[in-house]
Amino acid sequence: MASSPRMAGASATAPALSEFSSDVVIGLRHPGQKELPSKYLYDSLGSALFDAICLLPEYGLSRAGMRLLQKHASEVIDCLPGPVMVAELGSGSGEKTRHLLEALARRQRVNYYPIDISGTALYRCQQELSQMEMVSLVGFESAYLEGLHKVVARRREGERLLVLFLGSTIGNFDRPAGEQFLRDVRGILEVGDALLLATDLEKPIPVLKLAYDDPPGVTAAFNKNILARINRELDGEFDLGQFEHVVRYDERERRIEMHLQSKCWQRIAIRKAGFRLELRKGETIWTESSHKYDPAEVREMGARSRFDCAGQWIDFEWPFAQTLFFAA
Ligand code: AVI
Repeated sequence: MASSPRMAGASATAPALSEFSSDVVIGLRHPGQKELPSKYLYDSLGSALFDAICLLPEYGLSRAGMRLLQKHASEVIDCLPGPVMVAELGSGSGEKTRHLLEALARRQRVNYYPIDISGTALYRCQQELSQMEMVSLVGFESAYLEGLHKVVARRREGERLLVLFLGSTIGNFDRPAGEQFLRDVRGILEVGDALLLATDLEKPIPVLKLAYDDPPGVTAAFNKNILARINRELDGEFDLGQFEHVVRYDERERRIEMHLQSKCWQRIAIRKAGFRLELRKGETIWTESSHKYDPAEVREMGARSRFDCAGQWIDFEWPFAQTLFFAA
């Protein structure tokens, strides 16, 4: 399965047609298991569907992250003495971040730098947060690491950087790729800088399955939208009615997998990619993984990436962790 989730791609803006086209062809030609990179789930319709997922009673991740910051934002900020600048990887709607920025703005003027490849996401974040007193916002429409380099270049003498990675998007990386990402972030930071990392935790399998296969079918629509996007942008001829949204939990890998399963034997042309796909009845296209963590595993992963753990906050209603690391 492709190792990178939605916003960590190398491109600075929406992927060029040729990049999308070649990623689609490479994934659908993949020997054994056909796959599509999960980052392509998030065009503007996909992002709107993801926002709707976050409102589902069955999907507790976003609310858990919000609860933790409502309760612990001041505690997190108190761990960081001195002047602090804030960067956020994946700006999201900015709602969660508000709690942290408010806590920090009680003691200093705050420079906040959201980084996202989606201009729409940055715009929404700006709408939500730009009116905050004592907070100046400058967004970077770019891939995470590229944006982080730009933020670091703005560091003032004596300032410490707090990096927020709150969406639990690290779970959409394969485990080794997630750890490599932490190492890459650490490589950009200076000793004493901080990273607040959100991870979704393991929970009973039926709870997880329902979170990714909700009764109203919002996640199914989110998943199928990747085929609709290929139809729209690459002149594909997928018939969405011939696919079923399938969710599996791999107990060994401790991850949810989303697939699109073909209901029949079918041949599908993707004209702009000059490609014809053949699918057997029952064959699947793997579209996303969502890895679930154990709190100690998160601390260990940080330690292996040259981070010291300064605190870990856990939501027990929907097992979910926010871990504060210092660059060692
Ligand atoms: C963005 N990411 C953390 C979500 C997750 O739970 O892995 C994406 C998602 N896919 C289906 N529902 C939500």
